[in-house]
Amino acid sequence: MPGIVVVGAQWGDEGKGKATDQLGDRVDYTVRYSGGNNAGHTLVVNGEKYALHLLPSGILNDSVPVIGNGVVVDLDVLFEEIDGLNARGVDTSKLLVSANAHLITEYHQVMDKVTERFLGNRRIGTTGRGIGPAYSDKINRLGIRVQDLFDASILRQKVAAALEQKNHLLVKVYNRRAIDADQVADALLAHAERLRPMVADVTRVLNDALDRDQVVLFEGAQAHHLDVDHGTYPYVTSSNPIAAGACTGSGVGPMRINRVIGIAKAYTTRVGEGPFPTELLDADGDRLRTDGAEFGTTTGRNRRCGWYDALVVEAAATANAFTDIFLTKLDILSGWEKIPVCVAYDINGERTDRLPMSQSDFHHAVPVYEYLDGWKADISGARTFADLPRNTQAYVRRLEELSGARISGIGVGPSREQVVMINDLL
Ligand code: IMP
Repeated sequence: MPGIVVVGAQWGDEGKGKATDQLGDRVDYTVRYSGGNNAGHTLVVNGEKYALHLLPSGILNDSVPVIGNGVVVDLDVLFEEIDGLNARGVDTSKLLVSANAHLITEYHQVMDKVTERFLGNRRIGTTGRGIGPAYSDKINRLGIRVQDLFDASILRQKVAAALEQKNHLLVKVYNRRAIDADQVADALLAHAERLRPMVADVTRVLNDALDRDQVVLFEGAQAHHLDVDHGTYPYVTSSNPIAAGACTGSGVGPMRINRVIGIAKAYTTRVGEGPFPTELLDADGDRLRTDGAEFGTTTGRNRRCGWYDALVVEAAATANAFTDIFLTKLDILSGWEKIPVCVAYDINGERTDRLPMSQSDFHHAVPVYEYLDGWKADISGARTFADLPRNTQAYVRRLEELSGARISGIGVGPSREQVVMINDLL
């Protein structure tokens, strides 16, 4: 009963789709369990590039794509992505959506934008997609769920209740126009019949699949350090991208997960605000950004770039119990004379080789670097570990020693085939 979770080990955009691709046709179900259309998966299949924000990457292979209860769904985006894929000949008819998933509505997007503006320089740097406000409503018990679409009168009551307080805030605090509850309800109801055949008891479907020994892949969005409980709070997303989130976000018990694959980029990036000790604000950072095409797929923002931080990955390896690490974008590091790797922090004159417990300390952490020898060769054609130059192998081995789990795969280029596999991921 293989339950496999793929989780980002840093701050997102690690290239998780690359690892899930390696499981390919052997996966029966691919499940998104947290987040919403704040994610950005770029996948290259047969030379064609696909950018997905909400749909699981399994939509592009033969597995059954599933949106779990832990996801917040913007129906406009869902159908836009489906239409876009259909227009390119991709079959999306197997998609299942949990009846318990919450919906993102117009007012969540509006609240996301106005609160960010209101926060000024304390802003989070959200994607502006309404993610945080939709999760707030869920926890506040004011959320709208997929199943509410099939009872119009309940839906209207729930939308009116959710808007009551928000309209006061919008008008009196944020100086904006009130939002009309009926218009919101109408917009949601307009999607109901198209959505109906996709709606399922996802918990039952996935547990039955695991009982039949089928392979269920839980595809993380965002990453460990953006987790609302374990990340660099408050500079985080509003859900639980960590491996344990696969259980709450889809309804499978922890005993059913037997593989947790952490995806770590060979350097580090981050979008939005928040601490980032190894960030490079100089020409080296620009070079990583250009070489790695580090521009967000979701918002188009420049990603902040820096060297590999082994403490960041180790903390994720511990809290998620990574069984494997898949190292991505190693080819981007070709051509450097020396490659710094952060092995410890200096915090107010004291050295530590573990992520500090306190956020204030993390904000003051100064990276302590080890300088590894670089390599000049183009490694994008490598397919086995032995194909890699000696210095590249040494870089990988050192990261493995520092990061707390074995490195089982390495990405050496953008397309599906450009990987060095060391251990099978299944
Ligand atoms: P939100 O998820 O839109 O609320 O944004 C909260 C924080 O998470 C911001 O710093 C975003 O830039 C970041 N974030 C959200 N989704 C992703 C992602 O898929 N990759 C990287 N950063 C993300």
